[in-house]
Amino acid sequence: MQRQLEPRLPVKARLAERPLSIGKVARTARRNLLEIIPELATWQKMVSGRLVKRWHMVMDPGGLRRILRDRVDAYPKAAITKSILRPAIGESLFIAEGGHWQWQRRAAASAFATRSIRNLAPVMAAATQTLIDRVRRSAPGPTDLCAEVTAATFEVISDVTFAEGTGMERQLVHSAIDSFVNNAARASLLDVIGAPEWIPRMNRLFTHPDVREMKRIATQVIEERRVSGRCVADLHDLLASGVDPETGRRMNPIELRDNLLTFIVAGHETTALALSWSLYLLAFDSCAQDRVRQEAEAALAGDIATPRDLEHLPFTRQVVREALRLYPPAALLLRTAMDSDVIGGREVRPGDTMLLPIYALHRNHCFWKNPDTFCPDRFSDPNIIHSHAYLPFGAGPRACIGSGFAMQEAVIMLSALIAEFHFSPVADRQPEPVMILTLRPKGGVWLTVQPVQRS
Ligand code: HEM
Repeated sequence: MQRQLEPRLPVKARLAERPLSIGKVARTARRNLLEIIPELATWQKMVSGRLVKRWHMVMDPGGLRRILRDRVDAYPKAAITKSILRPAIGESLFIAEGGHWQWQRRAAASAFATRSIRNLAPVMAAATQTLIDRVRRSAPGPTDLCAEVTAATFEVISDVTFAEGTGMERQLVHSAIDSFVNNAARASLLDVIGAPEWIPRMNRLFTHPDVREMKRIATQVIEERRVSGRCVADLHDLLASGVDPETGRRMNPIELRDNLLTFIVAGHETTALALSWSLYLLAFDSCAQDRVRQEAEAALAGDIATPRDLEHLPFTRQVVREALRLYPPAALLLRTAMDSDVIGGREVRPGDTMLLPIYALHRNHCFWKNPDTFCPDRFSDPNIIHSHAYLPFGAGPRACIGSGFAMQEAVIMLSALIAEFHFSPVADRQPEPVMILTLRPKGGVWLTVQPVQRS
């Protein structure tokens, strides 16, 4: 009898087949946080348990809506998320709660309005051109595209945060942030499972020289800008002039610094991952790659996309959305319950840890057909996507403020790369999805690059 051929699937994490003991969780979490998620979480809407503390994994869209939107004050971000990031980004938008969060969000709103983001497109286009030139130098041959696009998104975020040419030591800040994120991630893995060792680790981070250096550079650039009085339409100026319409409050220099550093930390690696995974998937599926190329050739005719072109690149956008479904950079969100509640039919008590495993939600069989397959067409009609079953940018009032920025940048860079180059997989160099603070391709995204021959 002939065996039916299984559809070819892109790489996926090996989720836990049975509940793990505390020792096993500690070892697994240190290697890959995704592997502590039970396989069951891709079939059920809730999974609960106790490991030092009571915890619930919520994949139920109604429950997620309640936690992230309807009762957001009753489910603040978990203390660990804040302790990890606070040394680098203070009480900024990402970390603050209540009134201190609200006024900052309102003051930052205009910086992320559609018009402001469209005005930043030339910076994105310039970084895209540099990226293309760099990738061309490595062609034909294998290249780590993850490293390339990370350099490009860092260039964008540092230029739009502290404007090009203001003397920011870009490389220094980049390595300071990388080193901070890697150290911070190690602490987070231990804490998610409730291990107490994170306190001494956090103390080390507080005095980390990279963090001090990063803050010193940011303060210096802000001061130079203040003294020179030079006006540029970048995130620094938009945020410095941003006013909370309700209280009239503006950011002081420290708040400004912490929020700009937040944008750098939250904005560049996440967008680079969206791009890296999109490129991996397009190398995996050459038909989809051809469709993106045809779309780019028709819409752009050899140029880099401007904001006006973006509406003519719907399939490219669908690819990015599908990459964010299969490999959501923020693959696990954490909240702490402050009140008694019922979520997905389960009793929640104050102090319970709420794990929101976006990775498992996006591959949950209750909401997605063939969830492990790469199928950008599932996003051709956004109305058929189950509400609160697709949350790469979170949801509710604390949803990502930079989602429009990220999508614009990803579509500009992806369309340009695919128009210029053919990408194909390198044998034996499959990326492994590993979560270290964000969901990264372990080993990089190595692809063979061939320039597209134009007639
Ligand atoms: C593909 C790229 C990105 C992804 C997947 C992503 C994902 C997320 C997610 C899931 C959250 C909510 C976290 C939670 O609720 O616990 C968030 C919040 C946030 N993101 Fe992003 N993000 C991306 C790009 C960006 C960019 C480009 C910026 C800024 C330039 C940014 C700035 C922020 C900030 C400031 C918050 C906190 C918002 C608040 O609490 O009010 N992100 N992001």
